[in-house]
Amino acid sequence: MNEPHPVVAVYPGSFDPITLGHEEIARRALSVADRLVVAVAQTSTHDKNELFDIDERVELIEEVLGGESRIEVKSFRGLLVNFARQEGAALVVRGLRAVSDFEYELQMAQMNQELASEVETIFLVPGARHSFISSSLVREVATLGGDVSNFVSAPVMECLRQKLGIF
Ligand code: PNS
Repeated sequence: MNEPHPVVAVYPGSFDPITLGHEEIARRALSVADRLVVAVAQTSTHDKNELFDIDERVELIEEVLGGESRIEVKSFRGLLVNFARQEGAALVVRGLRAVSDFEYELQMAQMNQELASEVETIFLVPGARHSFISSSLVREVATLGGDVSNFVSAPVMECLRQKLGIF
C-alpha cells in the first residue's frame, strides 16, 4: 500500500513583526497540516511602512516558533501560489480576525484559486483575546512608545526595544 502524502501548508504574510495572533494561527494550523511553512513575503499586496527587514522577520519567527519541529520559516519573492507549488503545499492558511478582514481575504483566496486551483486556502480563527491584534497596530503603538508586551512574544519585544530605543 502507498504511504499517504504528508499534508504541507503554507502560512504566508508580512509578519512585520510576528504577533501572538500569528503564533496562535501557526500552532492551530498544525492540527490540519503535518508540516507548516511560515512564508514571509518579500512582495506584499499592501504597501506598508516596514519596520523589520525580511531577514529580521524570519529570525524572529524562528525564535518564537523554533520549538515546533513541524514548522519551518522561509521568505519568498513573487507569487504565493508559485511558492506553494514549489513547497508541495496543498493548503494556504490565513488567519481571519474580523468581518473587516473578509473582503480582502476572499479576494486573495479567489485570485489564488484562479491561478492555482489545486491549492486550497483555509481560514483559521484566533481566540478572542488575539482578534484585535495586528502587526500594523503593534508597529504604530510601539513606535509611539506604548507597551505592546501583551501582543508579541519576549524576543519580539526585545527587538522592538533595540530598534526603537524606547520602553
Ligand atoms: O500579512 P499580509 O501583508 O496581509 O499578507 C499578504 C500576503 C503576503 C499573503 C500577500 O500580499 C501575498 O500573497 N503576496 C505575495 C504576492 C502574491 O502572490 N500576490 C497575489 C495575491 S492574490
